[in-house]
Amino acid sequence: MCGIVGYVGDKKTTEVLLGGLKRLEYRGYDSAGVAIIGADGQLRSRKHAGKLQILIDDLEADPIPEGRTGIGHTRWATHGGPTDENAHPHLGDDGKLALIHNGIIENFQELKARLLTEHPETEFTSETDTEIAAHMVGYAFCETGDLTEALRQVVGRLHGAFTLLAIHSDQPGVVVGARRNSPLVIGLGEGENFLGSDVAAFVEHTRRALAIGQDQIVTITDHSVAVVDFEGNSVPTEEFEVTWDASAAEKGGWPSFMAKEITEQPEAVANTLMGRVVDGAVSLPELAGHEEMLRGIRRIVIIGCGTASYAGMIGKYAIERWARIPVEVDLSHEFRYREPVIDDSTLVVSISQSGETMDTLMAVKFAIAAGAKTLSICNTQGATIARESDAVIYTHAGPEVAVASTKALGAQVTAIYLLGLQLASLRGTLEPSEIAELLAELQAAPEKIRTVLEQHDEIRELAKWMSDTRSVLFLGRHVGYPVALEGALKLKELAYIHAEGFAAGELKHGPIALIEPGQPVFVVVPSPRSSDSMHPKVVSNIQEIRARGARVLAIAEGGDASVLPFADQVFAIPPASTFVEPLLAFIPLQLFAMELAAAKGLDVDQPRNLAKSVTVE
Ligand code: F6R
Repeated sequence: MCGIVGYVGDKKTTEVLLGGLKRLEYRGYDSAGVAIIGADGQLRSRKHAGKLQILIDDLEADPIPEGRTGIGHTRWATHGGPTDENAHPHLGDDGKLALIHNGIIENFQELKARLLTEHPETEFTSETDTEIAAHMVGYAFCETGDLTEALRQVVGRLHGAFTLLAIHSDQPGVVVGARRNSPLVIGLGEGENFLGSDVAAFVEHTRRALAIGQDQIVTITDHSVAVVDFEGNSVPTEEFEVTWDASAAEKGGWPSFMAKEITEQPEAVANTLMGRVVDGAVSLPELAGHEEMLRGIRRIVIIGCGTASYAGMIGKYAIERWARIPVEVDLSHEFRYREPVIDDSTLVVSISQSGETMDTLMAVKFAIAAGAKTLSICNTQGATIARESDAVIYTHAGPEVAVASTKALGAQVTAIYLLGLQLASLRGTLEPSEIAELLAELQAAPEKIRTVLEQHDEIRELAKWMSDTRSVLFLGRHVGYPVALEGALKLKELAYIHAEGFAAGELKHGPIALIEPGQPVFVVVPSPRSSDSMHPKVVSNIQEIRARGARVLAIAEGGDASVLPFADQVFAIPPASTFVEPLLAFIPLQLFAMELAAAKGLDVDQPRNLAKSVTVE
């Protein structure tokens, strides 16, 4: 939600800022803007409503004079619609200061009223919550003459979540940033330094990064980085190396990031397993020192939002079966506000691709305050949720740029399985041979995913044919139920089609009334060989909906004779055990949603109203 980049150095500042914004555009794409202190010492800003390309075209046609210091912003609107006026940067101190913001300043109305009493001459030109901060920092700069101190004086008065970056023409060569509950990382270059919402903002220039903590302020010049807390005390930073290079976040010839990322799922699963299966056992050095805690916990609560929450639902089935610990799954935003009963015998597992989702971050903080143990499953190195948690298992899906999550989900499911098997091993609830067998099945999953991906052309044809469809239903049981929910979510968010996922057993308790002749229904069918005895139940559900005229689109094991005659179309998945099946069944549903959106001429990487990293509540 809102992408932020800052730069000081000798490169063409406009190019560095726009390059960073291109890589951050997935965070928000309502409007974009930059501000640069030119070689002549003047601060100039340019901003436009609409996609980043509008700003790029304008700057190409009418460039801003180059300088060595600048900030850039790509917006996901919260306060005030996507207009030129509401786009960032916002200016203060008579246009000498520029400020950009990610987050929400909750008390902006109150601050505005107070500022107008103290400085009635202040002119507001936007409807945003951000502009108040620009004016406040501007006035504080007039008094202090120092941007770091000015920002420090202001941040303590802001309520809510924010990352702020500011530059001032009286202090060229300096970019100052502050963060509270919103992301900000530092990129370390040679004779240049960067700030960004995430490492994608600068990975093209450097893979050396510094993570900064909550309630901290960073000041960069071309040769220095200084970090202080909100009280002004110097604080240590933690350097890390970005494990992927810029090409990993390029489309690389694919029509969309989403197409590329769906196809990268075999690697996402394989890389998440890599080095973590040793001699048929789970090896998670990141959990070293936490063994006692993991043996002792009495309950697990898994939290996440959207797709990540579906990974959690699958994790519940696996952990309960393997480790015999009661597991609850909750949406992060519901968990936090329902006064959950948790204590130090509860392990709260958060799942987040970005590691910055505000709802999940706040739920993790709530869990910590309640004394629970916390573990995060996260795809982004150094992300806030990972840093706040007692332990982290990183997924290694690589950068996910398309707004809709795909490859991260496969990696999240893999990581939670590793956790489940580690718990089973520590608690002695599975024999080592059973664990080895389950791990071997998981290790075979990437090759099976590749087989499913081969059906892309067939799915594209179906999607084209169905591009006028107005409603699609998805059914599944057990781990197939979260798969059905995910299929529906993908279709809603990408193709803007009404879609709903149901537990197949729930159908007769109401939703079956929705079935009328021609209604398309995707059914996730478990393997006929599965020991879970769900297969016959799902086959019966197929019969029930067929009898009412549904058009059945089955995702089933290839050659499943009890499904083939009754489905209008079957997407075959290779034989797999119960817990590997979701990793395979996601694929046709992701491809279907993407291709249906593409057939409707929609932007599959940047669906309307959405942003990738939801850093507001
Ligand atoms: C759906 C999607 C979202 C995210 C959710 C959580 O395709 O991408 O539902 O899964 O916003 O995001 P993270 O995993 O970053 O916490």
